[in-house]
Amino acid sequence: MRLCINIDHIASLREARGGIEPDPVTAAHLCELAGADGIVCHLREDRRHINDRDLRLLRETVKTKLDMEMAATDEIIRIAVETLPDLATLVPERRQELTTEGGLDVAGHRHHLRDVVKELHRHDIDVSLFIDPVPDQVTAAHDIEADFIEIHTGEYANARTEEEAHTQLATIREAAVMARQLGLRVNAGHGLNYLNIALFRTIAEIEEVSIGHAILSRAILVGLERAVRDMLALVR
Ligand code: PXP
Repeated sequence: MRLCINIDHIASLREARGGIEPDPVTAAHLCELAGADGIVCHLREDRRHINDRDLRLLRETVKTKLDMEMAATDEIIRIAVETLPDLATLVPERRQELTTEGGLDVAGHRHHLRDVVKELHRHDIDVSLFIDPVPDQVTAAHDIEADFIEIHTGEYANARTEEEAHTQLATIREAAVMARQLGLRVNAGHGLNYLNIALFRTIAEIEEVSIGHAILSRAILVGLERAVRDMLALVR
C-alpha cells in the first residue's frame, strides 16, 4: 500500500495568520524526503487553505506524484487542465463543511461527470472519483470511465466498536473487490490514523491511502518539544 500525504492543513495554519508560513510547498518537500509516495492537495473554490500559488509551485516541485483534489466546476477544471496534476480526484464540495463530507454522487450526476472525466483525459490527466463504498457508485464510476475510485473511509474511521469497524471494513473490501473486477484502480482515505490503519492495510485491493489530519496532528505534537528548545536557546 502506498502513502500519499494531504498537506492542506499546513496551509490552514498559514491562513490562520494570513502570512507566508508555514509553507505547504516546504512541507511537501519534507514529506517526500521522509519517503511519502505522493502529495495531495485540495484547491477549494473558496481557497480556504491551498491557493493557486501553492498548486503552481507544488506542480513545479513535487517529484513523486501530485494528486489534486477538486470539485467538478468550470473554474477548477480549467485550473487542473493548466496545472496537469498526475491525478485529479473529484470530490463533492460544500462551502459550509469543515472537510469533505460524504462521497460524490456519481450515479446521480453521471452525465456531467462523464464530460468532466473526458475533458481531463483529453489532457492526459488520470481521474479518481471519491465515493462511498456503495455498489451503485462503483458501477457508475466504471460506467463513466474513471481510472480510479477513492473509497471514503470516514464511516470506518468513525466506528465506535471493533465489531462496527469490522463491518465497515467488510463493506469497503467488497467495494474494492468489485471495483478491481471492473478494472478500476482503488485508493482510499479520510479519517485514517495511526490506530485504524493496522486493520485497514489488510485490504490488498487498495493501492494507495491518502492521509492528512492524523499525520499533521502528530507532526505538531512530536515537533513541539524541539520547537520550544530552539526558542529557549534564543531567549535565554
Ligand atoms: N481523501 C479525501 C478525498 C479528502 O477530502 C481528505 C480530507 O481532505 C482525505 C482523503 C484525507 O483525510 P484526513 O485528513 O482525515 O486524513
